[in-house]
Amino acid sequence: MSNGRERFSKLGFILAAVGSAVGLGNVWRFSYVAGDSGGAAFLLIYILCIFLVGLPVLLAEFSIGRKGQQDVVGSFNAISPQKPWAIGGFLGVASAFLILSFYGVIAGWVVYFLYSYVTGATGNVGTGEYGDFFGAFIGGAAGPVFWQVLFMIFVVAIVFSGVKKGIELSNKIFMPLLAVILIFLAGYSLTLDGAGEGLTFLFTPDWSAFAQPGVYAAAIGQAFFTLSLGMGAMITYASYLPKDTNLPSAAGTVVTFDTLFAIVAGLVIFPAVFTFGLEPGAGPGLIFITLPEVFNQMGGTGTLFGILFFFLVAIAALSSAISLLEVSVAYAMRKFNWTRRFSAVVVGAVVTLFGIPSALSQGGPLSEFTIFGLPFLDAVDTLTDKYFLPLGGLVIALFVGWGWNKVDALKETGLTNSALGTAWIWFLRIVAPLGIAVILLLNILG
Ligand code: TRP
Repeated sequence: MSNGRERFSKLGFILAAVGSAVGLGNVWRFSYVAGDSGGAAFLLIYILCIFLVGLPVLLAEFSIGRKGQQDVVGSFNAISPQKPWAIGGFLGVASAFLILSFYGVIAGWVVYFLYSYVTGATGNVGTGEYGDFFGAFIGGAAGPVFWQVLFMIFVVAIVFSGVKKGIELSNKIFMPLLAVILIFLAGYSLTLDGAGEGLTFLFTPDWSAFAQPGVYAAAIGQAFFTLSLGMGAMITYASYLPKDTNLPSAAGTVVTFDTLFAIVAGLVIFPAVFTFGLEPGAGPGLIFITLPEVFNQMGGTGTLFGILFFFLVAIAALSSAISLLEVSVAYAMRKFNWTRRFSAVVVGAVVTLFGIPSALSQGGPLSEFTIFGLPFLDAVDTLTDKYFLPLGGLVIALFVGWGWNKVDALKETGLTNSALGTAWIWFLRIVAPLGIAVILLLNILG
């Protein structure tokens, strides 16, 4: 099976898939969505969504990619030529492009905070002033764009270097590093006075929260985002796989690590939030305003924690962003017959340019320019999270459940004649599509 396609090693693939999954979604997004949606009740529904919908769809993406041996559009076409399924692929390329455009902006904020902690600039910010510090930064023009562009240069450089020397190598360094820093931070957070309250918030459900439909939509949206599902990032990565990788165990590993990572990130953030009497439902500013307030009150060690924390988040964001860029780069390489390097630079530049309006929309010069009443960044975020990703996930589930010959699909995953295989197919046929369809409807109506 050497058709000249670049290849991951087995370990390299697992680390790259975990690297794609673990990102801003696990720290920035998970903490503010969980904080907003009531903590433990959300966590429970979220874990259900991960196992009932996320895991089967992740495995579906892995088998499509490995069978198709091409980018997301090409893989659909290779398995099922002349059929409309490839629409799911186009949707995927569009989602990857759109998500990366604003992902780069938020990652840029993270890098700016890292820089501010390293240079000691945060030392001049007083208690209660981080809201203004953050607001002044994202409300600027040159600042947010500069840090976004800087971050995107790193993303392009890694994808430019190729599957093995860029993506695999960077993930082999980043992933173990992330785990060590995160566990260290959680260990410290759990010694704080508010640890008990933080744990209660995260693990003892308030049952009334289950009656709110919004929690379900938030949970499934988060499940898709955090597992990098619904747009072919995992299809693209799996297309670089050798035939002998065990896909179900790879999918299980990715889901386990991603979920653990989110929960441990919660163990870092919520004890700190409660210790200093802050609001868990503070919204997207949680890690940019609330946490820095916490670091500030820790005194000298706070700076060290600020550096470690934002370094961790920056690296996690980088390994996810490369998977987003790879989707469009792989597509353009095949479609236009471009080299990897040319494709990485051109696609990277276009995505970055498209992200600039997002960078300027959070209090900056483009704040007044809204789409359906939303600032540019929020509009692109909503469009992808609420509609494109679930829709993409629906197409993927239906494709493997109904479109692709069942015998072949099972053969590709190595689940022929097993109860697990039968369960998988039926989850893709019924459970996942129904769950996704309900949420899509809720989103459209709500
Ligand atoms: N999963 C990543 C995170 O949690 C983000 C991400 C990377 C992503 N690739 C994706 C989200 C594809 C949706 C689809 O930060």
